[in-house]
Amino acid sequence: MSIDQPIDRQWWKEVTAYQIYPRSFNDSNGDGVGDIPGITEKVGYLDSLGIDLLWLCPVYDSPNADNGYDIRDYQSIMDEFGTIDDWEALLAELHDHDIRLIMDLVVNHTSDEHEWFEQSRRRNSKYEDYYYWRDGPPDEPPNNWGSFMGGSAWTYDERREQWYLHLFDERQPDLNWRNPAVRDDIASMVTWWLEKGIDGFRIDAINYISKPDGLPDGDTELSPTGIDVFGHGPRIHEYLRELYDRTFANYDVVTIAEMAGTTVDMAGDYLGEDGDGLDMIFHFEHMDLDVGPGGRWDTEGWGEWSLAEFKEIMSRWQTELGEDDWNAIYLGNHDQPRIVSRFGDDEAYREESAKLLATFLLTTRGTPFLYQGDEIGMTNTEFTSLDGLDDPMTIGFIEDLIAEGTIDSFEDVRDLVNYMSRDHSRTPMQWFAETNAGFTEGDPWFPIAENYQEINVEAARTGESIWNHYQSLIALRDELEVLVYGEYELYLPDDEQLYTYTRTLGEETVLVVLNWSDEPVTFDVGAIETDDAEPILGNYEESPDNPQGREFRPYETGIYRL
Ligand code: GLC
Ligand code: CA
Repeated sequence: MSIDQPIDRQWWKEVTAYQIYPRSFNDSNGDGVGDIPGITEKVGYLDSLGIDLLWLCPVYDSPNADNGYDIRDYQSIMDEFGTIDDWEALLAELHDHDIRLIMDLVVNHTSDEHEWFEQSRRRNSKYEDYYYWRDGPPDEPPNNWGSFMGGSAWTYDERREQWYLHLFDERQPDLNWRNPAVRDDIASMVTWWLEKGIDGFRIDAINYISKPDGLPDGDTELSPTGIDVFGHGPRIHEYLRELYDRTFANYDVVTIAEMAGTTVDMAGDYLGEDGDGLDMIFHFEHMDLDVGPGGRWDTEGWGEWSLAEFKEIMSRWQTELGEDDWNAIYLGNHDQPRIVSRFGDDEAYREESAKLLATFLLTTRGTPFLYQGDEIGMTNTEFTSLDGLDDPMTIGFIEDLIAEGTIDSFEDVRDLVNYMSRDHSRTPMQWFAETNAGFTEGDPWFPIAENYQEINVEAARTGESIWNHYQSLIALRDELEVLVYGEYELYLPDDEQLYTYTRTLGEETVLVVLNWSDEPVTFDVGAIETDDAEPILGNYEESPDNPQGREFRPYETGIYRL
């Protein structure tokens, strides 16, 4: 960025975001389930960490087939989570602390208990076409599409004597966006929330809303089958633009779209005023690095990833996104394993590697999204049986493999589950070393990870902790505009240990050195002039001053002003 080019400042580029999975965050009334008053109690906690934006996973009324991503009523709150008054109190408390709130917008599908689906099933005229219904014999689904939760994407409904489409669980029927009445209802619902004063939405699975004419079969090599035809469908831009013009455009809000299968070239058509008006995208390219060739649940070829490839992906998004477009930076969320277990080392170097991941998240160009518990280095847990799992996706895939005869039992995929399951990030937040980690006074809905006595917020707030490192990094990003708006430049693209980049804004350059490995490595980059380097923040007690020719210890990091 040249010095005379104005910076396109936006509040949502400058914030640090934090994602809460309400069921597992904090239980205020002892029923074992996290809830909204429990979150309100912890707003001071989020503020002390330096958070400015909260993304709340769904809290709407839901029968919980997919923990709230199956919505029964968009305009009321799940009983277990509290009331709309509790929600209003949370919003007020957040705003009092200058923390903005974004809600999860789940409109590719509803719950099968949503009134619209109930009416549609009965062929009630207005609702008859609200979902994808197709004729066909009860033993032959209309096409070969598979569900993300395993099995066919079609379920035969005895009442209507037709098949309905569900790209996710059978209890999550897909809305028919071709129907203008569906789009009207969604736009009014979105406006209803915006009028309440929220600050935007994270938009769930939105690249699947446009299905191609005739619902053609998909490539059976891909997982799930059909993703090549129903992902980024023919009318996606029209629908998103229309939703934007009718809703988001009228408010000062931010939108972040979850869109698997999006490349940086495609992103420009979605982002910004010259696209569909979306502000950011959660792309999946780095999430796909360590999965087998057949996708997330391929039992072969998972678990390995190379730093060079990781850098190539991240750098491509850093440098090839259009001038006016913006990145969302994340390594984990409620659908992914714990970041320190996946991208760091959750044993010998848990502290160091968790701090390294934090450094990465807070010093690349884009808005950082932290996931609850990552600020204390929470790890994956150990699942020992199918019964011990909760996630319908993990369970669905195991059931599929058993039905196909690929495996005999859970044991055959135990390692993959313990690496990849969405359940790892859904174990309750670890607050204290006491019973149930201070998450609940009752029986937790899902077991607490065994390491809570060592890994918990109370313990993590003293000394040179992961928590304190996050806090320092967030403060640093608030202080140094170059960390928000500066251009990114990668060095040593092929190095399998060092991830080195600079951020430059006008006259100011910051260098970031990450030894992303468990072996020491010498930093030696002639192209970077470091004689006047001033160390700002590292993750070992004593960090190298001038990094040139210096050895970086396992997972050691350094941030320097050049
Ligand atoms: C998104 C959510 C995930 C959910 C799915 C269906 O991917 O993040 O948790 O299962 O959509 O709503
Ligand atoms: Ca509760």
